Amino acid sequence: MSASRLRLGVNIDHVATVRNARGGGLPDPVRAALLAIEAGADGITAHLREDRRHIRDEDMARIRREISKPLNFEMAATDQMLDIALRTKPHASCLVPEKRTERTTEGGLDVVGGHDYLVPYVDQLKRGGIRVSLFIEPSIDAIDAARSIGAPVVELHTGAWCHAVENGETEKADHEFGRIRVAAARAAQVGLECHAGHGLDFATARKIAALPQIVELNIGHFLIGEAIFIGLAPAVRQMRAAMDEGRRQAVAGA
Ligand code: PXP
Repeated sequence: MSASRLRLGVNIDHVATVRNARGGGLPDPVRAALLAIEAGADGITAHLREDRRHIRDEDMARIRREISKPLNFEMAATDQMLDIALRTKPHASCLVPEKRTERTTEGGLDVVGGHDYLVPYVDQLKRGGIRVSLFIEPSIDAIDAARSIGAPVVELHTGAWCHAVENGETEKADHEFGRIRVAAARAAQVGLECHAGHGLDFATARKIAALPQIVELNIGHFLIGEAIFIGLAPAVRQMRAAMDEGRRQAVAGA
């Protein structure tokens, strides 16, 4: 397994959250996307939620038109989102579960129970030339189910791990990181490209970068929060450096 450079996808949803708090057009999420790319992001991630609470249809269209790096379009598996994705033609679509009452994407997709429901969405996105990933819990069962659904990529939900780290729950954090390690290894074993995201900060990104099977991290909330204090470009550059350092350690220890 070659431990190549880890890609950073910057999620700009919460620039739109701040904009929408006031109405009007500022701050502009597309400006944030362009700045993040200039600072070293390898791609831009945006989630068009059913309730349009942050990113809106016209944001997605503008991001697609104006950025020079791949767009990862996060979406629920619904007919409306499928139609928009097929028209937008992003580089990738990440299928996520969506509940109107949640504040953020709280868990992974039910890829075991939802197998038959998800297959046609994955098929149609693939036929549209879009690389599909499934946002899943870090478990062997979920990896195997994702593979049987036919997605070439999985994104492991790192929320439970990051939450435990943030709360100082060391044992739980170790347990959750162990699940991510095992799931990443399984993904590689069955030929799936492995991404990860949710709740990552500089320290957790550095640590997870040491897992050589993971090729992409998608990070939003922390970076947009840091941008308030140090600016978006420095935050992206610092994240890039943390990821590169974590990966270097993995290569050195291999
Ligand atoms: N990956 C996926 C699939 C997500 O749904 C999210 C949250 O929107 C993220 C990554 C980024 O999470 P965070 O904003 O906590 O960095």
